[in-house]
Amino acid sequence: MAYPQTRLRRLRANESIRQMMRETELSAADFIYPMFVAPGLDVKVEVPSMPGVYRFSADLLAAEAARAREAGVRAVLLFGLPPSKDEEGSGAWAKDGVVQRAVRLLKSSVPDLLIITDVCLCEYTSHGHCGIIRNGEVDNDATLELLARTAVSHAEAGADIVAPSDMMDGRVGAIRDALDAAGFQSTAIMSYAAKYASAFYGPFRDAAESAPRFGDRRAYQMDPANRREAAREILADVDEGADIIMVKPALAYLDIVSDARALTDLPVAAYNVSGEYAMVKAAAANGWLDERRTTLEILTGIKRAGADLILTYHAVDAARWLQEGT
Ligand code: PBG
Repeated sequence: MAYPQTRLRRLRANESIRQMMRETELSAADFIYPMFVAPGLDVKVEVPSMPGVYRFSADLLAAEAARAREAGVRAVLLFGLPPSKDEEGSGAWAKDGVVQRAVRLLKSSVPDLLIITDVCLCEYTSHGHCGIIRNGEVDNDATLELLARTAVSHAEAGADIVAPSDMMDGRVGAIRDALDAAGFQSTAIMSYAAKYASAFYGPFRDAAESAPRFGDRRAYQMDPANRREAAREILADVDEGADIIMVKPALAYLDIVSDARALTDLPVAAYNVSGEYAMVKAAAANGWLDERRTTLEILTGIKRAGADLILTYHAVDAARWLQEGT
């Protein structure tokens, strides 16, 4: 049956029927709130390219995390800004490192908040790459041991989930083995499975001071032109024992999110990255876009594409907007 018997507008006529017909529903429990933790006390510094996002010392991070939890957000993802960096990135696995301390504090101050930690070396290495350098290149196999050590130190501090974002081959398996050997069988792994070498990470690198000092990340992060390769990356991480797989960035990669959903029954996460956030904030500040409507539309689109979980700097605002209703 076609028009005029069929009229698709019948099911859009008013708010009640639209709500009944809605296929995708966002919830605050879908969101993971990324946060930056810095050394010291009483530190709260806004990231210039990410209005509304701050580097917090652990004490103020705890207050912000509590605010997120009150708004209905169930999980945060922590990135650390260490007091100093070195060739190997040893601050990443320091027992008293900036992330390890923050995890301990959050676990005691907001006990029912899930703590996810980003596992990578780039914020901790003096050269800014995600692994150790041998002969001018990031050495894959030598890096695995350091990532595993980092993941175990996060688990020891109390992290619920570790999230490797380095893109070394074999790191999910190496981390799983190390966690199990250290008695952390219950610590889950959310792998940045299909992570692209993207210009959209620009503001994050300002926030985390993690831009590479030489070269770029294209020898380990994926080529934005590749779709089939993402399937190989995702299946490799599933085989190695990932519990959740992630696609990153989100918006220019919704086909990959959709593929991921079809490829595996694992939960799929998508990372609405710093550059995606910065674009919305800049346009909204100029009065060019309605921030609330744009943000909720973007998050809905990411979920509709197949993501169960969305990592987003908009998490607290979006959770509030959902509480208020549209
Ligand atoms: C660390 C890491 C990055 C992001 C998350 N983990 C930066 C990068 O790979 O350069 C980007 C997050 C964002 O842009 O919001 N490897």
